[in-house]
Amino acid sequence: MLHNPNHIYIFDTTLRDGEQVPGCQLTTSEKIDIAKELELLGVDVIEAGFPISSPGDFQSVVELSKAVKTPIICALTRAHKGDIDSAVASLQYAKRPRIHTGIGASDMHIKYKFNSTREEILERAVSAVKYAKGFVEDIEFYAEDAGRADIEYLAKMIEAVIAAGATVVNIPDTNGYCLPDQYGSKIRFLKENVKNIDQAIISVHCHNDLGLATANSIAGLQSGARQIEGTINGIGERAGNTSIEEVVMILKTHQGINLNTNHINTKLFYNLSRKVSTEMHMPVQPNKAIVGSNAFAHSSGIHQDGFLKMRENYEIIKPEDVGFPSASIVLTARSGRHALKHHLERLGYVMEKVNLDEVYHRFLNLADQKKEINDQDLFALMGDGTEANYNESSIKMKTLNVIMGENAIPEATVTLEISNEEKQATATGNGPVDATIKAIESITGKKPSLKEFNIQAMNGGSDDISRVNMLLFLDGKNYDGYGFSTDIVRASANAYLDAVNKFLS
Ligand code: KIV
Ligand code: ZN
Repeated sequence: MLHNPNHIYIFDTTLRDGEQVPGCQLTTSEKIDIAKELELLGVDVIEAGFPISSPGDFQSVVELSKAVKTPIICALTRAHKGDIDSAVASLQYAKRPRIHTGIGASDMHIKYKFNSTREEILERAVSAVKYAKGFVEDIEFYAEDAGRADIEYLAKMIEAVIAAGATVVNIPDTNGYCLPDQYGSKIRFLKENVKNIDQAIISVHCHNDLGLATANSIAGLQSGARQIEGTINGIGERAGNTSIEEVVMILKTHQGINLNTNHINTKLFYNLSRKVSTEMHMPVQPNKAIVGSNAFAHSSGIHQDGFLKMRENYEIIKPEDVGFPSASIVLTARSGRHALKHHLERLGYVMEKVNLDEVYHRFLNLADQKKEINDQDLFALMGDGTEANYNESSIKMKTLNVIMGENAIPEATVTLEISNEEKQATATGNGPVDATIKAIESITGKKPSLKEFNIQAMNGGSDDISRVNMLLFLDGKNYDGYGFSTDIVRASANAYLDAVNKFLS
């Protein structure tokens, strides 16, 4: 494959490595939405899914292949013929299809995952690549757990799969084990010792278990790799994958490295980050590099003073270069549908899919409680499944009243509407949320265990919206629920009911 020697290919796996995280699952139409944004961002490759893993994943690869025109669409497989057949079928509409196949390369994986030998694994790797090459020209091979693999064996495997037709060779640090100089040396060794390495692009795929994913990816690129795999916001298995926005901004900031990704429209990072966070229900930590809400906040007196004298004293990136909103937008209870529509479009929502009247109704309720509605509030409003997505049989919250005080036992009275009938219950608990959940339980008769309960303030300020995420376990399955409100007890009740409604649907 011919390419500019300094060009770095960006391979996005938000919809595969990112989406396989529990709670991050998306519908096909949500995946298409994000894939179109990734196309606008300018990524070179979109890993659309793992087609053999489920009919839903298969269908998503089919639909993404139809919807996306410019980037390569990639489908993941294990080194199995059945996986490859499924990937080939799912990529039938892709303008530029790629199959990503591979197998474990470390002795740990060879012995304890495959109960096999180095020789047998090498054969399986080569035959998977040869088989895939019979259908698709562009074949990427991954040597899973390459970070812990013996370097001589890894080099032998890489040489063999390139000879079998691999166009890209992915060297994943699957467990986020390596130090940057170790990972960089690994890539350099392959570059210098694999005879046919010039016939393929080396790809870096790092995980963040020790917080080194971005540093390792950069070390790999500096040592000769020319494709980097990552996700928006760094979401992914366990501690996550490399953050694409971090790598791109590092290369842009350090022009001296002389590696470029010129075609990436970095101004789209902020909105895409928020979209991924909202749709995947995965909050962005405030101090996250590039896209965290504090990434450009200067709070200490010394910093503010220096910043005001010259912003470069404390800013190495311009917030506008990553699309960071410079001033919060002003939408109030007096704003009309038109203003709301304008801002939703600006944030990337497809208005044909939005019931504007219904959203406007919820917007006004929120604006009555909160003077100004900003981007974060709008994302929360649009991500609130509790009400917008209800159907006839859903349980709806009618009223919630809580009593608590210095010497009073917290007590909640809840009225729910179930199949057009109102039911009320009162319960006490060790706090207002506990009392509310117990009151709901006594009406529904369901007592799931609460496995996770996260409350997140969206912006700051005592009039802020809280976003609550709960994971309930009921009849052997997990159900996640999300709720938003300026009242954390109400937001918790919404999240709880959202999960219960998923169980009942
Ligand atoms: O981390 C990893 O090794 C992977 C491979 C499947 C590419 O995600
Ligand atoms: Zn991975």
